[in-house]
Amino acid sequence: MGSNTAIWTAKVLTLFPEMFPGPLGCSLAGKALDEGVWALETLDIRSFADGNHHVVDDTPFGGGAGMIMRADVIDRALDYVSESFSQISLPILYLTPRGAPLTQLRVRDLAAGSGVVVVCGRYEGIDERAIDAWNMEEISLGDYILSGGEPAAISLIDASVRLLPGVMGSNLSQNEESFERGLLEYPQYTRPRIWRERTVPDVLLSGHHDKVRAWRQMESEKITRARRPDLWDLYAANRT
Ligand code: ADE
Repeated sequence: MGSNTAIWTAKVLTLFPEMFPGPLGCSLAGKALDEGVWALETLDIRSFADGNHHVVDDTPFGGGAGMIMRADVIDRALDYVSESFSQISLPILYLTPRGAPLTQLRVRDLAAGSGVVVVCGRYEGIDERAIDAWNMEEISLGDYILSGGEPAAISLIDASVRLLPGVMGSNLSQNEESFERGLLEYPQYTRPRIWRERTVPDVLLSGHHDKVRAWRQMESEKITRARRPDLWDLYAANRT
């Protein structure tokens, strides 16, 4: 790697640049942003629109509710950002409930790359031709509808940035460790030992590390089986 190796950069195309950095300017991600561990570039899609009125959207061909973001406007915005990364290739992500569900595996890949370009859609989405022409990767955060891609973009960037070297220190959370093994996290407790007449499981106070480990494993399995039968089936299949 040369000395001019670019830092991990998120380039966000949005109609609401004022939503950024937002939560990404706080806590671990914000500290890393200040320290130059990663960079955030926000582009206002509206500044790529034509005419005095800067129209970015129009009614859908074929009729129907809502407005569609114009392909030509998105195209100009992406032309502009792509000039700044012609040497490196950044994936162009389009956040939409229609996309493939985001996974920790994909997040790890994104964090291992040079950064991301994220297109935030509003209204009923963007013209399909822009998605095709730019070979966008459509990603969803889950089976629910946000008012736009911005909160999804913030989540995706947060999940990526925390994996960059030097952001979290060496300690991945225990939550992550159990999740990466395919199980949900076991219950955790701290002082006081008795709170509102509720006690802490005896085994955790026993000092027997093997018993603690076995208890945690059992609890992780119990919770995963009850809450996420899909994860449980995968785990059970891989275990044998
Ligand atoms: N935009 C609106 N809803 C979304 C979702 N669930 N995931 C990603 N982007 C979105």
